[in-house]
Amino acid sequence: MSPPTPPLARQLRDATRDAHRALDRHPALQCLLAPTLTREAYGASLLALYPAHAELENRILREIARLGLRLRVPRRLPRLIDDLGSLGLTPRTLASQAATSSASPAILAGELYVLEGSRLGGQMIGGRLRRTLGSGAPHTFFCLEMAPEEWPRRLLELEALCPPGERGAAVAGARAAFDRFREQLDRRFPG
Ligand code: HEM
Repeated sequence: MSPPTPPLARQLRDATRDAHRALDRHPALQCLLAPTLTREAYGASLLALYPAHAELENRILREIARLGLRLRVPRRLPRLIDDLGSLGLTPRTLASQAATSSASPAILAGELYVLEGSRLGGQMIGGRLRRTLGSGAPHTFFCLEMAPEEWPRRLLELEALCPPGERGAAVAGARAAFDRFREQLDRRFPG
């Protein structure tokens, strides 16, 4: 039996349900689920995903280091770059992120929820891509295995990062992370 969901995780899920729905219906991501997906459309989607994912992943790893936290977060950006390279595509240089404000541990908990949660949907997308484009299509970004105990363990880590009185900050961090992700997708993939 899986352990009960920690209170912060329940709050984050409830507070970001609509933001998640808006993202998983975004044309840049919806097309990945279409049975008619072509390699060209897949490449366009990965190019749009690159800055969105890079901004989130880079920021979180930078803030973990700045705060001196002992959190292990797998990097997926190199996988995305490799997949693009295998498709013969090169992502655009990222804009400088020097202006983003620093995060408290509670805000970071919300952002990390978004980054690591995206692996759950990613696994599903990976399965779909294997069916539509075949297992030879480069899709390492979408298939970083999440072991069954990994997500519950991550949720407990988030709980430990965020005192109960700061859950509002974690929710704000998660919402802002979803918003920034969507803005990046909108910029490269207006639909
Ligand atoms: C077409 C795109 C997407 C699909 C189909 C999708 C699908 C899913 C699914 C099925 C789950 C639940 C998995 C489970 O309970 O085992 C999930 C969870 C989650 N996804 Fe997505 N997702 C997509 C994109 C994203 C993106 C781009 C992000 C963030 C940048 C994201 C963030 C999350 C988060 C935070 C959770 C955890 C929700 C919870 O608390 O249970 N997803 N997604």
